[in-house]
Amino acid sequence: MGKDVIIACDFASAQDTFNFLDKFTEEKPFVKIGMELYYAEGPSIVKEIKKRGHKIFLDLKLHDIPNTVKKSMAVLSKLDVDMTNLHAAGTIDMMKAALEGLTREDGTRPILIAVTQLTSTSEERMKNELLINASINDTIVKYAQNAKEAGLDGVVCSPLEAGMVKDACSKDFVTVTPGVRFADGEVGDQVRVTTPAKAKEIGSDYIVVGRPITQTDDPVAAYRRCVEEFVD
Ligand code: C5P
Repeated sequence: MGKDVIIACDFASAQDTFNFLDKFTEEKPFVKIGMELYYAEGPSIVKEIKKRGHKIFLDLKLHDIPNTVKKSMAVLSKLDVDMTNLHAAGTIDMMKAALEGLTREDGTRPILIAVTQLTSTSEERMKNELLINASINDTIVKYAQNAKEAGLDGVVCSPLEAGMVKDACSKDFVTVTPGVRFADGEVGDQVRVTTPAKAKEIGSDYIVVGRPITQTDDPVAAYRRCVEEFVD
């Protein structure tokens, strides 16, 4: 699995997204489409971006009963996305069903990764609201191992957790990591952040970068800087 930089296209409309992508005349970055854009624009946004030649990570984080997730994944698979995801909290059975739904007749399928614990969930909330008494790191490792057992390709996690996940699962278990900032950049609302260079050192396979690229005067230069630090 080659290392790559995925741009989080957290825009509210198709037009804003196209205006942004039009700036890239020489390269075709891998892009992440999240719930906001997908729910606003529907499947057509995926088809349109695909037609422009980009790889797509469709970040919809499915979590429902196995049969519903299986059927929904079959729909997403027809959209020809390159990567999609679900919540590991849906159990191993749900993840297995998702894989079945995602697999096309010719045996190919998008990369499927699991969300372990959202970075917005603290250990304190896990204990007090969800009645989960294990440490947050233990749940991340256990959920990653469950995802591996179900046959998934990897997990979304903080770059700072990528080494721990690989040690617990395997070196080739994919880690997709948001929470990336340039050493001289603004952190914003992210808490546990690291630089593209450090994410490479720890072993991330894909970094997901949003505002450090989308909210700058020169997004192409910022994207190239990420690629230079992380891939080259
Ligand atoms: O702008 P920024 O670089 O913080 O964007 C990170 C992207 O990754 C956003 O789309 C955010 O929703 C997503 N994400 C995250 N942390 C997670 C899972 C997804 O920041 N644990």
